[in-house]
Amino acid sequence: MSKKFYITTPIYYPSASPHLGHAYCTTMCDIIARGKRLRGFETYFVTGLDEHGEKIQENAAAKGVTPQAFVDEIAVRFTDLWNTMCISNDDFIRTTQPRHYETVKKIFSEFVKNDDVYLGSYKGWYCVHEESYWTETQVGEEHLCPECGRPVVEKEEPSYFFRCGKYVDVLMNHYDTHPGFITPEGRKAEMVNNFIKPGLNDLCVTRTTFDWGVPVNEAPGHVIYVWLDALTNYITALGYNQEDDSRFQKFWNDPEAEIVHVIGADITRFHTIYWPMFLKALNLRQPNKVFVHGLMMMKDGKMSKSKGNVIPVPPLVDRFGVDAVRYYMAREIVFGQDGQFTPEQFVERLNADLANSLGNLLNRSVSMIIKYFGGVIPEYKGELNDLDKNLKEVAEKTVKSYEVLNDELKVTEAYASVMELVGAANKYIEESAPWALAKDQAKADVLASCMSHLANAIFLAGSLLSPILVTKSEKIFDQLGVPAEMRNYDAAAKFGSLGGQTVNKGDQLFPRLDVETEVQFIKDLMLAPKEKAAA
Ligand code: MSP
Repeated sequence: MSKKFYITTPIYYPSASPHLGHAYCTTMCDIIARGKRLRGFETYFVTGLDEHGEKIQENAAAKGVTPQAFVDEIAVRFTDLWNTMCISNDDFIRTTQPRHYETVKKIFSEFVKNDDVYLGSYKGWYCVHEESYWTETQVGEEHLCPECGRPVVEKEEPSYFFRCGKYVDVLMNHYDTHPGFITPEGRKAEMVNNFIKPGLNDLCVTRTTFDWGVPVNEAPGHVIYVWLDALTNYITALGYNQEDDSRFQKFWNDPEAEIVHVIGADITRFHTIYWPMFLKALNLRQPNKVFVHGLMMMKDGKMSKSKGNVIPVPPLVDRFGVDAVRYYMAREIVFGQDGQFTPEQFVERLNADLANSLGNLLNRSVSMIIKYFGGVIPEYKGELNDLDKNLKEVAEKTVKSYEVLNDELKVTEAYASVMELVGAANKYIEESAPWALAKDQAKADVLASCMSHLANAIFLAGSLLSPILVTKSEKIFDQLGVPAEMRNYDAAAKFGSLGGQTVNKGDQLFPRLDVETEVQFIKDLMLAPKEKAAA
């Protein structure tokens, strides 16, 4: 039976248009999901929108539309972006959908029934932007939100509270017995030292001052806190507590299923403290991993419209192709660390890796197979020389490290190792010097071996890169003449399976970019509209 893998992105607030930062997180999850599918895992990949809460209600009011109309309009921008980025999500959950909305009510009733929540009254400092209450100490004398720096407001309201105290020990025990539950490891200490050790207050889980949310059956006037509502999407999307819960049984309830939540650092507290407690209260298993990725920053800090440093994704994809944008994200920004987007590094990365290294390798190899063997990849079964042996070894090692690194979610490192194989193949051409072998009849076998090794190395690299290069990997296979039944992981990973096929000379898959022109193109995209008008 194939292994089950469930991966989720945060469900985003549809409070404004999505930008490169949202695209980054979802694309990385897509690359992971596709990588697992490629290797035969039964994979389920969910993304979606977190559509309730005071912030959405306020934004909608400011535009003079209903909250539902407001989120409906922005939802289309998200789904358009996912189409542009070739995201292969299996579901797109929206918290206003009845399947989710009704289940959240049931979950809350379960909490009431089991005395996991109680009615009290809440007084504290509230940040509408972060949808979060903070203590006096956290907001300091200036009364600013410690997360986003915006002013907070003092609020008092009757509220239900979730009994965190009941689950703190269980949570700490889970951390201790499951290293890697929070990855990178450093985030765990942050949670323990900043939030758990100072003493965790019970969490306020209903609101009465606005109504854009899921109502509490037991208490009219209360709506369920947007974070409790949002976090449960990870199980409602699978059908938890719904008529057909087969997917939930398969991807969550099965202890063998691997569950990974990928999130940004800004929402670690909710995912690694409260979510595990909610799950425990529902008597459900924990995810295997909450993976905290870094932020994609600009030279002048976080991307923001007011700074005019937001890169719109569609024109970037139009210009460079979806594969190139995906490749940049996976390869240039180390997954798990913050990274900085600069137009120069973007263009240089594409030139170095895709045009010079991969594109060139394919071009040269296909041309040589045409020139020396009439376009047919030699079926070579003879003896290998040292150079052949070395390339074969690199290829075999690459398959192993690719699998291990991907399973550890070291995505950047996994694809760096594939590019090392591409580099080794280019070096192999230089060292084997096929042009010299072709001049010597006695070396015909060595030449055949060389072409066979090259074709197989490219086949393998193209296959391993296919989770990123969602359109170009097929073109690589077309140029190599790989038949449909061989376009799979097993055939590619079994180094040497290609031989006897006819190659096709095609277009340059990754033409070299003119650095100056393309850097300027990206800089123009970054100009805020008002600066553009002034320029
Ligand atoms: N709605 C909540 C999440 C609920 S999940 C149960 C939320 N939404 S959000 O729209 O603010 O999205 C937050 C996530 O978007 C971050 O955690 C991060 O994954 C992603 N990113 C937003 N800006 C980003 C960058 N500049 N760079 C990388 N990722 C970014 O919080």
